[in-house]
Amino acid sequence: MKDKLKAVILVGGHGTRLRPLTYNTPKPMVPTVNVPFLEHVIRNLGGHNISEIILAQYYLAESMQDYFGDGSKFGVRLRYVMEESPRGTAGAVKNVEKYLDGTFLVLNGDIFHNCDFTSMVKFHRRHKAQVTIALTPVENPTIYGVVETDSRGKVKRFTEKPKPEEVTTNMINAGTYVLESEVLQRIPPDTKYSFEREVFPPMLADTKSVYAYSFDNYWMDMGTPEKYLQLHRDILSGKCDNRLFEKDVTIGDKCDIHPSVQFSGKVIIGDNCVVGHGVRLTGPVVIGPHCTILENAVIADSVLWHDVAIEQRAIIKSSVLADNCDIGDDSYLVDAVLGDHVTVDAGCKLKPGARVLPGETVGNT
Ligand code: GTP
Repeated sequence: MKDKLKAVILVGGHGTRLRPLTYNTPKPMVPTVNVPFLEHVIRNLGGHNISEIILAQYYLAESMQDYFGDGSKFGVRLRYVMEESPRGTAGAVKNVEKYLDGTFLVLNGDIFHNCDFTSMVKFHRRHKAQVTIALTPVENPTIYGVVETDSRGKVKRFTEKPKPEEVTTNMINAGTYVLESEVLQRIPPDTKYSFEREVFPPMLADTKSVYAYSFDNYWMDMGTPEKYLQLHRDILSGKCDNRLFEKDVTIGDKCDIHPSVQFSGKVIIGDNCVVGHGVRLTGPVVIGPHCTILENAVIADSVLWHDVAIEQRAIIKSSVLADNCDIGDDSYLVDAVLGDHVTVDAGCKLKPGARVLPGETVGNT
């Protein structure tokens, strides 16, 4: 891109589908390979000649500002704008209108992808579009917003969550847009309003300037625990085109790892962790900082946030454990998602797929 653009990242949603992880942590701050998810999004944008990133906030906003500050540590300039009440995707951008002019980018803050923004903006300008929507192919389009286009990439139709018999394409709205500022005139001020339902569909009738830019690099909406875990599997296996973790085992600073620990697959351990005698770590596994894994515990295909304690012989499989969980001796968790500060009593076998609210204690009775 010759001239620099601004980008708006929507980070104000409640993240209800990602509960219980998002009761006390906003979705953009959910650790993803030991850094907040939003850091991946910001670093990805940073390579594309962006003059300023505006974070449109509502839910649990403070922790983002504490972590990212003015953005300089991440090579970008950040501005934070808070909504008085949740405005939805389009209302949130209307709320930051005074900081925007000309062409700008809008990104959902919960999508991990490798879209080439520079090439998307060039496409947008070449077609003199008012809106360009990034599209990506998915296996099951029925849970997404499907977008049909003509051969030049002009959008013909939107269908939200089509029934299987209505599916005509597997290309879905990837949650990334290039917009011209005049589009904001279509959004009423101080109102909850949606791009997907209220702004883009009526534009098809009014104008010919809604285009779609298709890409088929890696794309993942990490809005549910299953997808969040899948994202970790994909990042660690290199499916996301990143070369961050070429080594099989990455161990942070000041860790105490017993020589008998058995590693297999990709394992990432944060700083200041203790891993005891006979522990088995079967990747993909990500362990946050300040975790303690005691003797003969087994962790496989799981993500632990910070300050998690796993006691002796506990078995954790395909699970996500948020900050400060304490998992007792000989307990057993599979497909579990635990909010922060959860205690699992010794010997407790959780029902597969258990979801546990922050602060709860789970026992055998
Ligand atoms: P769910 O409650 O699980 O659907 O998640 P969500 O609240 O994040 O909603 P959704 O996944 O539909 O949102 C897509 C993106 O828009 C996410 O990055 C949200 O943070 C963001 N978003 C959704 N609603 C709002 C809002 O009212 N204000 C702002 N600023 N961002 C929003």
